[in-house]
Amino acid sequence: MAKKLLLIVAAVILVQKAPAQITLTEKNIDAVLKQMTLQEKADLLIGCIEGTNYFGVPQPTGSDPSNVILIPGAAGQTNKISRLGIPATVVADGPAGLRISPTRPNDDKTYFCTGYPVPILMASTWNTPLVERVGRTLGKELKEYGVDVLLAPGTNIMRNPLCGRNFEYYSEDPFLSGYICAAMVNGIQSEGVGACVKHFAANNQETNRNENDSRVDQRTLREIYLKPFEIVVKTSQPWSIMSAYNLLNGVHCQENYDLLTTVLRKEWGFKGFVMTDWTGKRNTSAQVHAGNDMMMPGTRTQIEQILADVQSGALSETDVDACVRRVLQYIVKTPRFKGYKYTNSPDFDTSTAITRTAASEGIVLLKNSQQTLPLADSIKNIAFFGVTSYHFLSDGSGSGHVSTSYVVNMIEGMEKAGYRYNLGIKKIYEAVDALSDAKYEMSPAKAKLPILEMIGINHRPDEIRIPRYIADASTQDSQMAIITIGRKPGEGADRAVKGDFELTETEQEMISNVCDAYHAVGKKVVVILNVGGVVETASWKDKPDAVVLAWMPGQEGGNSVADVLTGKVNPSGHLPITFPVHYSDVPSAKNYPNLPGKPEDGMNGLSAILNPKMYSADPCFKTTKYEEGINVGYRYYSSKGVSTSYPFGYGLSYTTFEFSDLKVTQRGKKFIATVTVRNTGNMAGRQVVQLYVNSPTTTHETPVRELKAFAKTELLQPGQSQKLTMDFSNYDLATFYLEDSAWKTIAGTYIVEICEDAETIKISMPLRIKDTTKYAVNNVLNN
Ligand code: BGC
Repeated sequence: MAKKLLLIVAAVILVQKAPAQITLTEKNIDAVLKQMTLQEKADLLIGCIEGTNYFGVPQPTGSDPSNVILIPGAAGQTNKISRLGIPATVVADGPAGLRISPTRPNDDKTYFCTGYPVPILMASTWNTPLVERVGRTLGKELKEYGVDVLLAPGTNIMRNPLCGRNFEYYSEDPFLSGYICAAMVNGIQSEGVGACVKHFAANNQETNRNENDSRVDQRTLREIYLKPFEIVVKTSQPWSIMSAYNLLNGVHCQENYDLLTTVLRKEWGFKGFVMTDWTGKRNTSAQVHAGNDMMMPGTRTQIEQILADVQSGALSETDVDACVRRVLQYIVKTPRFKGYKYTNSPDFDTSTAITRTAASEGIVLLKNSQQTLPLADSIKNIAFFGVTSYHFLSDGSGSGHVSTSYVVNMIEGMEKAGYRYNLGIKKIYEAVDALSDAKYEMSPAKAKLPILEMIGINHRPDEIRIPRYIADASTQDSQMAIITIGRKPGEGADRAVKGDFELTETEQEMISNVCDAYHAVGKKVVVILNVGGVVETASWKDKPDAVVLAWMPGQEGGNSVADVLTGKVNPSGHLPITFPVHYSDVPSAKNYPNLPGKPEDGMNGLSAILNPKMYSADPCFKTTKYEEGINVGYRYYSSKGVSTSYPFGYGLSYTTFEFSDLKVTQRGKKFIATVTVRNTGNMAGRQVVQLYVNSPTTTHETPVRELKAFAKTELLQPGQSQKLTMDFSNYDLATFYLEDSAWKTIAGTYIVEICEDAETIKISMPLRIKDTTKYAVNNVLNN
């Protein structure tokens, strides 16, 4: 009996000592962390499934044998740890919509996604509630396709018009970038999925992007390049931030403790997790120590490095635990953890409708002489020139590309709106297509390309010459001409000045010949720019009667442009970036890669990836000096009086507006500005209100004006007015003083300006700040 009792007591003790088997819940993150072996922790930090994006073979990195690829074509997954009930979660690109494989082996169903307008167009709407609605729709799509985090939005500053990824970003201005990005994040996350804001930080060129060192002084960094991220973190708490490939002042961003911990977490209060950009150079332990929680898409070697370094003491397990805790905090928020049953059937009716609306609201009317637009009722027959009229571009290439089930061409959009096209001209372009397809079928590029279609690198015919006699002949059957100029920028390479930023000789000749032919018979010509970034306009813009900047408007492209041309939508887009007169006017022109021309067929990204040596001779290959400092975009042009072709903030409407009654009142540390906008023309329309502030003059040089708030009216009927309210804070007015290691809003008289664009002030008033306020920060990230 006594023996039996002893056995029972021993059994009870054993049961108590055995580690309790727990599974992850929202409430037991620390307890689960305590149960994790070092191997499991390392597995969790090293993102699984190498190569599910576009290159290589899928290969789970973790040691849990039940890890499988969940969503084909998604860029990555986190590793599953079944023992503790930690599911794998899925992350996928990107900024203009979800990028997953549209087809799957042994499956007849298709998995196309909505191609939304590219971010540069979204910023051109200057409409945060609209951007938030687009984000919400995109978030729903993510959820229905079983994706937990979108690898977007990107909010790098457009430092230079040649950056190959400008189409994926928002603006040259930190406030516009920050608030549009925050609206997108809020929209996406309102659906219970996450956003990953990228690429943190100073990732402003594609050339040698993995190893290029951005050398930026601390003031410029804080005021220009970090600011949009600061705004997004403080306004919308993204679930994740993606650390950039490049080095910042000598240290890889992914290993940069001051960037990822001191500034991002301690100063700004970021609560989410940081994941690396894909692959690149790795010192895994340095990344973990810096607060880079997730390495994407990892390798087994990285797992081994964590294990070895913790064992040798080179990496502290406390650092590992901090990263693991943040990853677990993320996982418990995901639809996959919550067991959401996704349908694989997103609501495309809603998403394509909002794509069409959002795109037409971000299209910018650059020129409209003698009310060429909206098209007169009498116009019915149009001749369409330019290969892009027939091969419209919905987005750029790279991870920002979306596989859509269709893209509406210019010509289709106009046909659906009731216009007839010039058949003879169309036949010419069809013949060009056939020839170009035949050439392509036989080319070595064909064999290499299928895998690249996932990133939008597909075949497109070269532009063709339009001799004057062809343009003349077309005027007989057509009442006007539309010329579409296309550019397909992409990830992995920057654009060239010749033939990309500048129009090619063939394009210049086409514009001249078509304009001369049509003007000779009293008919008009409209140029549509279907581009992802800035192109040179000063040398040719006086020729056509109207110029419409359509950007890359997503899969409904042709319909959205038709809505603007016909007047169904009154354009209200305004430029988020300056259009300079010459490339040499750009303040960073001397410190930016300027590479030889690349093929005009969407292959530019690829050519740089395949020929890195070709680019290494450029002075900005290894190191890029941000010598222009805070003088980026309009901050430079307006302060230094350099003329532009179209200034930042510019955009025409089919109606006119008047601004009045500007008032600014102070409530504590906040300033509330109100202004009344009246539609003084005879067509309903919306107007953007841009509030800039001109700081008092001191020895601390500041730009002549800086955007501090913006808003957009409702659709105002002729004669209708709306009072708009905008706010900004005392901190928003501060500039950075390196010697004090602080932001300071100095006492003095500021001028609040309501502008139509960065060069046109409509009304202004003084704003007196009585006392200087100092906001101290850490003296870090110095050049
Ligand atoms: C890009 C990221 C993207 C990632 C995953 C990288 O090449 O820089 O923006 O999210 O790939 O596709």
